[in-house]
Amino acid sequence: METVLSGIRSTGHLHLGNYFGALRNFVKIQNTYNCYFFIADLHSLTTHPHPEDFHRSVRTILAEYIAAGLDPESSTLFVQSDVPEVSELYVLLNMLAYKGELERTTSFKDKVRLAKAKARNKAVNEISYDDHDDEGININAGLLTYPVLMAADILIHRANYVPVGKDQEQHLEYARVLARRFNNMYGEEIFPEPKAFNFGNELIKVPGLDGSGKMGKSEGNGIYLYDDEKTITKKVMRALTDSGPTEPNSPMPEYINNLFTLMNLVSDPSTVEFFKEKYNDCSIRYGDMKKQLAADICKVTLPIREKIDAVYNDTDYLRKVTQMGRDKARESASATLSLAKKAVGFKVF
Ligand code: ADP
Ligand code: TRP
Repeated sequence: METVLSGIRSTGHLHLGNYFGALRNFVKIQNTYNCYFFIADLHSLTTHPHPEDFHRSVRTILAEYIAAGLDPESSTLFVQSDVPEVSELYVLLNMLAYKGELERTTSFKDKVRLAKAKARNKAVNEISYDDHDDEGININAGLLTYPVLMAADILIHRANYVPVGKDQEQHLEYARVLARRFNNMYGEEIFPEPKAFNFGNELIKVPGLDGSGKMGKSEGNGIYLYDDEKTITKKVMRALTDSGPTEPNSPMPEYINNLFTLMNLVSDPSTVEFFKEKYNDCSIRYGDMKKQLAADICKVTLPIREKIDAVYNDTDYLRKVTQMGRDKARESASATLSLAKKAVGFKVF
């Protein structure tokens, strides 16, 4: 059976981007593949969370994974830092990763620009990546080598497929580069090259409702699985719109297109068609469209929300789940690590 693996960083509640880009697919495939799903708590350290929030965030993601339908009996559900073999492979892979290629990673450049913009109180587009004054800004080596740790996560279980959203495409490509480089350097086919998992469709990008870009935790525009009906409705009703098209079949501005993208994910095709026709004949009322969109988002998220607190508060159950996941994950990870170490030349005296 082929292996599927994916993770989400523990940096707060899960939003619709995480759900449609990743989690929904985890649930769909958990019984078809040999699945590993984890909480990337080491990755979340790049932004220095407060120690008290750190554990709470791990627990939050775990509870939301399970509430959304991940079954700890069907897939291996674990916490990244519970599997030290990952960190050991990360060290080995770091020796094959070049500074230049890491510096060219889009997510790294974006994060650097964002950090500099925040520190200087400026808009991101006013900041150049080549401005080398990093004084007092948290651009740590962990951020630079983020894709190497992610490659270690994937390669340690010799995963064949990785279900992620479009924003992770470049990181996944880098995991393939490192797998190939390791295999070539040591002349053994230890790591398969992992591919994106997408059900034959394009990878998904869930937009934010604030005009442009993706929905994300750092973007501050999330609609969360944990939001109640009132909060969701308020967030959707606040989405950017205008007074509507004045010419039939006008091109759609990005912020309106984003509403339709979200609607495509949560609503009936006939509902989407209904509002598209209204847009094309200029009779659309965005207020009505947003009300419908909010109601359809709630239909997806409220049944999940209902279960989150009970799972979150069940310490005994969560302990059992993470111990079981850790044991299964370590078994697979230590087998791969032994092969990798042997290939590199480590020998037991
Ligand atoms: P965030 O970007 O909110 O910080 P993560 O980086 O931890 O969240 O992402 C976890 C998973 O969710 C990844 O597979 C990522 O591709 C997916 N994801 C996050 N945001 C989106 C989005 N807006 N659209 C599609 N997928 C997304
Ligand atoms: N980098 C991913 C994100 O931000 C999270 C992640 C860490 C991951 N390790 C992974 C995803 C391994 C898939 C496979 O979304």
